[in-house]
This record gives sequence, C-alpha cells and structure tokens, in this order.
Amino acid sequence: MKIFIDTADLDEIKELASWGIVDGVTTNPTLVAKSGRPFKEIINEIFKIVDGPISLEAVSEKADDMIKEAKSLVSKVSEKYRKNVTIKIPMTPEGLKAVKKLKKEGIKTNVTLVFSANQALFAAKAGASFVSPFIGRLDDIGQEGMQIIEEIMEIFVNYDIETEVIVASIRHPIHVIEAARLGADIATVPPTIIRKMARHSLTDVGIEKFLNDWKKVKK
Ligand code: G3P
Repeated sequence: MKIFIDTADLDEIKELASWGIVDGVTTNPTLVAKSGRPFKEIINEIFKIVDGPISLEAVSEKADDMIKEAKSLVSKVSEKYRKNVTIKIPMTPEGLKAVKKLKKEGIKTNVTLVFSANQALFAAKAGASFVSPFIGRLDDIGQEGMQIIEEIMEIFVNYDIETEVIVASIRHPIHVIEAARLGADIATVPPTIIRKMARHSLTDVGIEKFLNDWKKVKK
C-alpha cells in the first residue's frame, strides 16, 4: 500500500519523507492556507522533496476554467518534476468533463470530494488517474465511511479499473489498517496520524528497559 502525506507543511513533508515511507503528497486549499506559506514556494519545495504523485487542487467551477487552471499549475512546476503533477478536480459533472479532456492532454487527475461508489465509478470512467473518497467526513455525519471503500474496491476489481483509490479524510490509524485490508491502493494521511502509526507504547517501554539494562553490562 502506498502512503501519501496529506499536508502542505514543508517541514513535516521533509521529516516524514526521510523515514522512507512517503510515496506522494496531497494538498488542498485548506492545507495550503494552514501552512501559512506562499503557494509558489510550497510547489517549488514539495516536488524536490518527494518523487511521487503530488496533488495540487484546481478551484474553478467550470470545466474550461479547470482545464486552464490545471495547465497553469503544471506550468508552475519545473519541467523535470512535471511527471509527478496530479491535478485535483472536484467530483461534479463539470469536473468529469475536465478530467476527460485533461486525460487526452496527458495531465493526471485526482478526483476529489468523492462520497459514494457511484461517484468513484464515474470519475474512473471519465479517465481519472486517482479517486479520493473522503471517509472521515462520512463518519462525521454518521455514515460508515469505510463502507464506500469496500464498494469501490469491489467494483474496481470486478472491472479491472486502473484508476487508483486514495483513501482520504483519514481521522485515525485504524482507518489506514482498514483501508489496507480492503486493498485500497493509497491512503493519504495527515502527519499527526503518520506519527501515531509509527509509535507503540510497548516499543517505548522496551527501548527504555534495554537502555537501562545496557548500563548494567560491563563493557
Ligand atoms: O486530502 C483532503 C482530505 O484528506 C481532507 O480531509 O480531514 O479535511 O476531511 P479532512
């Protein structure tokens, strides 16, 4: 399973990428705003740190505008990193039109704000490279988010659909385990949750004991 980091925080991206577990990055307008840094600066840096798909979000509402925006985002990235640019397109009929055209032009897309298996199926049919079902936001309104991952994986396997499933809006480490057990291609995970995934209290206790016992050994 691939792990993407769901943040625009450059320090976190640098640190967690150094662990050797980050395969890509997803950003969105909220995450970019939270980082407090200029978008151009973020773009330039992220591509240098992570050699994998990097999602940048288009914020237009009409297909033609999304396409223009996608091209402008691609042009902002230096040529040697362009293979990793993925444009996040919202799951709307206009978004689907844009995805279809961008695919023809060789621009990868990640259809975002997906909340049902039908939406994922349409995004895949339109030619999305990735679909991002938001499971945490479904959990938040009392609907079992992981159920749509199960449905999407079943449908994509049934029809040999190549679009990769990015499980997004992850709220805790168990979401990642569940997504992996269902065979989802990717989980995009906020830094705080990545850190929790790496830790276990028994690991900490074990290290402390080994360090203390080592002090008792004659060297
Ligand atoms: O990549 C965006 C997605 O993961 C959003 O998550 O926490 O805002 O629902 P959240």
